[in-house]
Amino acid sequence: MEYGNSTENGIGKSNGIGNGHGIGNGYVNGHGICNGHGNGHGIGNGHGNDNGYVNGNGKVNGEKMKKMKPMDSEMLREQGHIMVDFIADYYKNLEDSPQDFPVLSQVQPGYLRDILPDSAPDHPEPLKELLHDVSKKIIPGLTHWQSPSYFAYYASSTSVAGFLGEMLNAGLSVVGFTWLTSPAATELEVIVLDWLAKLLQLPDHFLSTGRGGGVIQGTGCEAVLVVVLAARDRIMKKAGKNSLSQLVVYASDQTHSSFRKACLIGGIHEENIRLLKTDSSTNYGMPPKSLEEAISSDLAKGFIPFFICATVGTTSSAAVDPLVPLGKIAKSYGIWMHVDAAYAGNACICPEFRKHIDGVENADSFNINAHKWLFANQTCSPLWVKDRYSLIDALKTNPEYLEYKVSKRDEVVNYKDWQISLSRRFRSLKLWMVLRLYGAENLRNFIRDHVNLAKHFEDYVAQDAHFEVVTTRYFSLVCFRLAPVDGDEDKCNERNRELLATVNSTGKIFISHTALSGKFILRFAVGAPLTEEKHVTEAWRIIQKHATKFIHNKKF
Ligand SMILES: Cc1ncc(COP(=O)(O)O)c(C=O)c1O
Repeated sequence: MEYGNSTENGIGKSNGIGNGHGIGNGYVNGHGICNGHGNGHGIGNGHGNDNGYVNGNGKVNGEKMKKMKPMDSEMLREQGHIMVDFIADYYKNLEDSPQDFPVLSQVQPGYLRDILPDSAPDHPEPLKELLHDVSKKIIPGLTHWQSPSYFAYYASSTSVAGFLGEMLNAGLSVVGFTWLTSPAATELEVIVLDWLAKLLQLPDHFLSTGRGGGVIQGTGCEAVLVVVLAARDRIMKKAGKNSLSQLVVYASDQTHSSFRKACLIGGIHEENIRLLKTDSSTNYGMPPKSLEEAISSDLAKGFIPFFICATVGTTSSAAVDPLVPLGKIAKSYGIWMHVDAAYAGNACICPEFRKHIDGVENADSFNINAHKWLFANQTCSPLWVKDRYSLIDALKTNPEYLEYKVSKRDEVVNYKDWQISLSRRFRSLKLWMVLRLYGAENLRNFIRDHVNLAKHFEDYVAQDAHFEVVTTRYFSLVCFRLAPVDGDEDKCNERNRELLATVNSTGKIFISHTALSGKFILRFAVGAPLTEEKHVTEAWRIIQKHATKFIHNKKF
């Protein structure tokens, strides 16, 4: 890709030959000149010159500023190609030149303020210049989540299909808050979430053909918030308007922090949030006995238990709460049970992992993050509810300006009533594209590959006597650490903390950590789309190499 000339004073010239349309500030993509391929495609205001404009012949006449069109189809075509090339190059370079992309950004806080101007420009700047700044100033400040050597937190998986879906979504840019505002956006979401529910073998009551249905929330945090609100409203209809202070919720101490936040937003008193203790005896899954005891004790004190948040694949260690017994307890007390399967739920499209959500039949709601591990680029959090009216009753608003008439009113979904915000992205397009362009079998295999790579890493750890695998692995996360010497847990925590910092400071890989039963644990999570066996092997080599320092140093 080449750019044409753009002079300092805004007298942009086009050069070369071809069909380029004059775009921004007198530069031309590729090899083309602005050869009048339609008047007025040339847009440009002359960098630093109020009066310049490109006139379609690729020349700036310097007399009159042409009105800029924010969405000019030819400019989009031209610049869109440049942008796609830029992004494709980014992915290629991540693979081919990893040394240029420290996985964990190595910049210091405030680095960007020092290298960007204090205020926004008054006049347009060339895309070329902007992309140059992205390369030189922004990319060094990125942690490369899509690097093949990214093993931290949980991945945010991308794919070409997901990217194209995001692109199409950004391009069409419809806002389907009611059926009327874009019938296809609503109807596709209903259909695609039914497809996905079937791939996950969710019970029929989660399908749109029954009383339930699916909705794509922006994030897992939003998903848990809306179901807490729905459950709260349902119970308060029974228990009365003044019952808020008596309402109690349950989850394990491994539950994602979004649950506490959702409860606080929902007005649940902090002291009524019961986070039940877990330990290694249940591989950090919630013990049903503790739940039963907590509920009985709360009932005896006059509290009103109304919500259980179970997790399949906790953020810390991918622990699995036992849905079958938890669901039975929830059902017997009439408590809403939500299943947060943000990460691991995606794996349940594979028959061999589906067992982890056995018991979901007794749940009232269930969510996954398709942007975590279903290659659906950020963000995309499908949520299914057993009874859509519980959600709608809690969140419905009816301003006159959104009213409309439609022949089959009852058959129409208005997703504004299933979520917090009014405006919403056409996310189902992306999910639809991922499902269609790959097909379920490929998606299953992508997931299986990641799980196998995690197993590979786990084997390396298990074979090294200086290390230990800490939890039973179910999916693509390995929890491990340098093993304690002479039972000294404090020293062990210190060594692992140092090891983590050292390894990440190389920029060659990025792993993260957690704490389990007071132990500092290293997490190795596979899920980036470019990761292959060689990256896992290299990651282990780096960890082992840096660990020798701690193994042979008495200080540690
Ligand atoms: C189990 C679990 N639940 C919820 C979330 C929050 O999801 P989001 O970041 O989409 O809000 C996460 C994120 O890591 C998670 O692991």
